[in-house]
Amino acid sequence: MARCFVTRELPGDAIERLRAAHEVEVWGKRLPPSPDELRVHTRAAEGLLCLLTDRVDRELIHAAPDLRAISNYAVGSDNIDLHAAAERGIPVGITPDVLTEATADMAFALLLAAARRLVEADADARRGEWKTWEPARLLGQDVHGRRLGIVGYGRIGRAVARRASGFDMEILHSGRSGGVALETLLESCDFVSLHCPLTPATRGLIGEAQLRRMRPRAVLVNTARGPIVDTDALVRALSEGWIGAAAVDVIDPEPPPADHPLFDAPNLTVVPHIASATHAARERMANLAADNLLAGLAGRPLPAVATAD
Ligand code: DGY
Repeated sequence: MARCFVTRELPGDAIERLRAAHEVEVWGKRLPPSPDELRVHTRAAEGLLCLLTDRVDRELIHAAPDLRAISNYAVGSDNIDLHAAAERGIPVGITPDVLTEATADMAFALLLAAARRLVEADADARRGEWKTWEPARLLGQDVHGRRLGIVGYGRIGRAVARRASGFDMEILHSGRSGGVALETLLESCDFVSLHCPLTPATRGLIGEAQLRRMRPRAVLVNTARGPIVDTDALVRALSEGWIGAAAVDVIDPEPPPADHPLFDAPNLTVVPHIASATHAARERMANLAADNLLAGLAGRPLPAVATAD
């Protein structure tokens, strides 16, 4: 029986499954443990099941001498120092596949919402602005038949492409697996959706120069990670009309302060990092995270392991 720290309550019975085999402490609060609290609770742990909001850095890993397995409740692993974990021989689990379709659904929902101004139109109707049917009120953009650029053509990027093909969209993609140059994609697409992981190479990938290359009515969708886009540049791009709109599930910083300038930017649709937030996807993630931890603690290969670049 190993000592485990789980940094949040999880949906479904994943924690019960862990408890059947191990001694499990769960952080029961809504907000994450502070770095100090995380260190204190991980110090004696052999297994750590953490969230993308927990920073598992070299210092934390060194402060936990008995740690043998880390399981991240996320497909991304940018919150974990994979090199420090690898140096200690600690496997790091992640949750790919189980959230692919839910995340792709949200990317497409954001794309549609931004193109057809859904959030603005809903607010308009509730405010009593629905006075009559008007020929030129709340005009948006066609989605069908337009060109979609997908940056990062892995599991989620391809799932977004499948949805787009149902809308007769032409797809361009760019990323490690080939496709066109990013510049070409940005210049020629009506919609750009980001699906690459956050790595040193993709941090700030979409900055001022890239936003200025996009079409004046283009829509940028980000369900990947906030720091892939330079937030200040995005605020200016929206305020000064370099692009038409943005729809984001993730931003930098996350969470943003309530008075963050992005909230004042025009033509922005923003949701709070909920792309994988369906009941079924989050339960599947919890089960895979538990399976990863159980395997790691038993010295077996993890069902889904993160590898350092
Ligand atoms: C992830 O898993 O990395 C998402 O951002 C949250 O589901």
